[in-house]
Amino acid sequence: MQGRRVLLGVTGSISAYKAVELLRRLSAEGATVQVLMTRSAAAFVGPLTFEALSGRPVLQDPLELLADRRIAHIVAAREADAILVAPATAHWMAAMAAGLAGDTITAACLAGTAPVLIAPAMDAGMYAHPATQANVRRLQQFGYWVVEPETGPLASGLMGRGRLAELHTIVDAVARAIAAGERPAPHRDLAGRSLVVTAGGTVEPIDPVRFIGNRSSGRMGVAVAQAALDRGAQVTLIVGQTSVALPAGASVVQAPTTAQMRQAVLDGLTHADALVMAAAVADFRPRHPQSLKLPREAALTLELEPTEDILAEVGQLVTSRQPRPVLVGFAAETGSLERAADKARRKQVDLLVANDVLEPGAGFGVNTNRVTILAPGRDPEPWPLMSKREVADRLLDRIAALLPAQPDGEAASEAAQQAASSSPQEMP
Ligand code: CTP
Repeated sequence: MQGRRVLLGVTGSISAYKAVELLRRLSAEGATVQVLMTRSAAAFVGPLTFEALSGRPVLQDPLELLADRRIAHIVAAREADAILVAPATAHWMAAMAAGLAGDTITAACLAGTAPVLIAPAMDAGMYAHPATQANVRRLQQFGYWVVEPETGPLASGLMGRGRLAELHTIVDAVARAIAAGERPAPHRDLAGRSLVVTAGGTVEPIDPVRFIGNRSSGRMGVAVAQAALDRGAQVTLIVGQTSVALPAGASVVQAPTTAQMRQAVLDGLTHADALVMAAAVADFRPRHPQSLKLPREAALTLELEPTEDILAEVGQLVTSRQPRPVLVGFAAETGSLERAADKARRKQVDLLVANDVLEPGAGFGVNTNRVTILAPGRDPEPWPLMSKREVADRLLDRIAALLPAQPDGEAASEAAQQAASSSPQEMP
């Protein structure tokens, strides 16, 4: 680390005192260390300690200017060979995951191009919380290195996972990140893969004005599409009726009715590695939709006919295809998941994501879900309540594991594309 510049961001955890020793060790390795602190970090350890040991003023105020009127934290970020945030609190990680530049450390991470390392430290419950875990994943997707906390006694007196990693582990990680010279590529394990995802509810016309529909918002399917895009996949997103923004980058096909969705799925599937049927597809449609608006009368009887079961049809169609695309179904149940296993068999899916929409936090129009995963030959796997994005990422982990290995050529061309698109390191 001789001659290298390391920004050390200290946030408001009790283990902020360990950052003093971390600064000493980084300096002993030959690094020039510039400390940045959040306001709450300064409540745990005085900036004077860091200033005396680093020989430089601590940057605490995002509005601070240098003598030549340049913005202090931007200059520091652009000159850095690595940015290390240790300890990183749950709050700071949430702010960083959202890109909220309210303190000098988040602002420096946003402004710089040097590798960023994050060493979380907090209570075990806080670290295990789905919100924190989702933020950890998001930061990894930015290409940040997360130096995982360790298990041991915590400041609360409890035992658990949340202790700041050993200082030598953190210093080693900084050395490796500097040697790598740039932010590692985000987690792009689906590069070269093509996914078809359906989202939202289908609508079946009664007449030109009225339809039969359902409560699906499309959130779950859109979360799967966005997560797959973030992981490098090509995504065809087939949507019925939705009430959420659709991800840029997906190839969107509007398919309001079940018949249109069926056709779009069959067309999309010819080149797809996986189909994720998150759409809530109507099971019945009016047998005789009217071309003119029905007048109001004393009563109306609608005759309904069953729609095509898209997933079951696809399950049949792909039996002889090599490699067989991975098929994922969703099952929105009410009261119990008893029928789900039979559904999974009937539709010949590799994974069925079942949920009870009557459970709090697991229904329509909310950002969370509590699902149980069914896979042939395996026990049902209940997942805890988590955000739909987290469900999407975990589901994609499972899909990725089921996909056949890619030919080397595709992986190599993706690596070359990434190298070409990564921005060059800013040097002082
Ligand atoms: N599905 C489909 N075509 C249909 C109905 C459902 O492709 N006509 C798909 C859904 O997108 C979902 C899975 O099948 O991935 C299960 O949907 P669900 O409505 O739970 O199952 P059904 O077979 O319709 O059974 P039921 O309505 O009796 O619960």
